[in-house]
Amino acid sequence: MSQQPLHILVVEDEPDQRSLISQMLTANNYLVSEADSVEQAILLLKESVPDLVFSDWKLGQLSGMDLLTYVRREHADLGFIIATAYGTITHAVDAMQAGADDYLSKPYQRQSLFMAIEKVAKSLKLKQHNKRLASELSQQQELVGLVGKAPCMQKVYTRVQRVSATDATVLIGGESGTGKELAARALYQLSPRRNKPFIAINCGAIPESLAESELFGAEKGAFTGATSQKIGKLEAANEGTIFLDEVAELPLLQQTKLLRFLQEGVISRLGQNSEIKLNVRVIAATHRDLKVEVEEGRFREDLFYRLNVVPIEMPPLRERQEDIGRLIEHFLKIHGGQYGLEAVNLSTTTMKALLDYPWPGNVRELSNRIERFVLLGDEDELVAELTQSPSVIDAKAFTLPETGFEWEEFEKDCLQQAMQRHDGNRTRAAKQLGLSYKAFLYRLEKYQLTD
Ligand SMILES: Nc1ncnc2c1ncn2[C@@H]1O[C@H](COP(=O)(O)OP(=O)(O)OP(=O)(O)O)[C@@H](O)[C@H]1O
Ligand SMILES: [Mg+2]
Repeated sequence: MSQQPLHILVVEDEPDQRSLISQMLTANNYLVSEADSVEQAILLLKESVPDLVFSDWKLGQLSGMDLLTYVRREHADLGFIIATAYGTITHAVDAMQAGADDYLSKPYQRQSLFMAIEKVAKSLKLKQHNKRLASELSQQQELVGLVGKAPCMQKVYTRVQRVSATDATVLIGGESGTGKELAARALYQLSPRRNKPFIAINCGAIPESLAESELFGAEKGAFTGATSQKIGKLEAANEGTIFLDEVAELPLLQQTKLLRFLQEGVISRLGQNSEIKLNVRVIAATHRDLKVEVEEGRFREDLFYRLNVVPIEMPPLRERQEDIGRLIEHFLKIHGGQYGLEAVNLSTTTMKALLDYPWPGNVRELSNRIERFVLLGDEDELVAELTQSPSVIDAKAFTLPETGFEWEEFEKDCLQQAMQRHDGNRTRAAKQLGLSYKAFLYRLEKYQLTD
């Protein structure tokens, strides 16, 4: 039994009988309230809900069955025991069928009353426990802006929720458009630092020469063009959170400074000798495989371990196909609202095409497509390119020249053409060549076509 006394509402129209039961229960440490009719019982239930109702069957014009019906409709989890007159076993059967937890036929022994109460109390506790478990286990469909209930997303939510309360450094990985930034923001929103600054910096978008002052700040005159003192992003994020997006692109020199900050909590502005102590929670993200970057000497191994305290991997959309429908609905609503346009339903064929598509640009690509569809209302356009997959060149139709040919020149040329055709969009270019994003990037880097 719980620490609090069980609260029982006794409903009995016979005054002597009612006070006898009440006294008996009170003496056994139950908390008791009394009602002499169904009407009064309902009034009391509206004021405060007990754990259990013990009601007589016969109650003036109405009966305990009427009360039972009311209770089951309004308070599904309330215990209910009914007392039936001698020889009216059919009443007991009716009551049990209508959802009573137990019945006692009159006259009953004190002991039977207590036993019935204990039995019901126990099953109530079990019911509550199961309900709590069920609600804990019920799948979460969203987490601060992140839509999706696939098992791989549940794992992300659990991790985000777990580490949000701490200051642990988090490294978010995943392909482009999988929601890395959204996850970083969710982490921040759920953290105790939510009312402090959230400063996002895209390490891939700052020119190398400015990276240092952008991140760590600079004293006046520290470099040509530094006409006044500059506060860096880390300093601006003091007490709050910094989001280092595309952290793999950070130049090696700044990696060293960042490492120092992560180890010692201090920075110094460019051109400054003294140190500034900061309290900043770091969240980093990258679409690259940092282990490969480390192996190839582009990323400091010690920094990788410092950042990778808690890794969170955002799953690609093709691995959570069950979420596509939910995301489509989400974006129809969002973009519809944004442009003040009525959301339109999609035909089954369109839906099927959208569900079957592998989404190389992940959620961002889906969002963009739905946005265009909301604006243009053209379902054909929405699915037009989705069904186009790269054609397989018939190897037999191509004869290798006797003299051979420069394979690598050919490959490089294909890469360049694909990049040109898609205005530098790597995801699309990769798709046109039938390559995974990683395989494509590997080749771009091999031919030094990344700039
Ligand atoms: N689970 C999701 N639920 C709802 N919207 C999402 C989800 N994931 C991503 N988005 C949306 O898709 C777009 C891309 O997400 P985001 O910028 O977080 O991805 P990213 O992984 O940081 O991509 P990139 O590597 O290209 O920077 C955003 O508009 C974001 O709101
Ligand atoms: Mg991003």
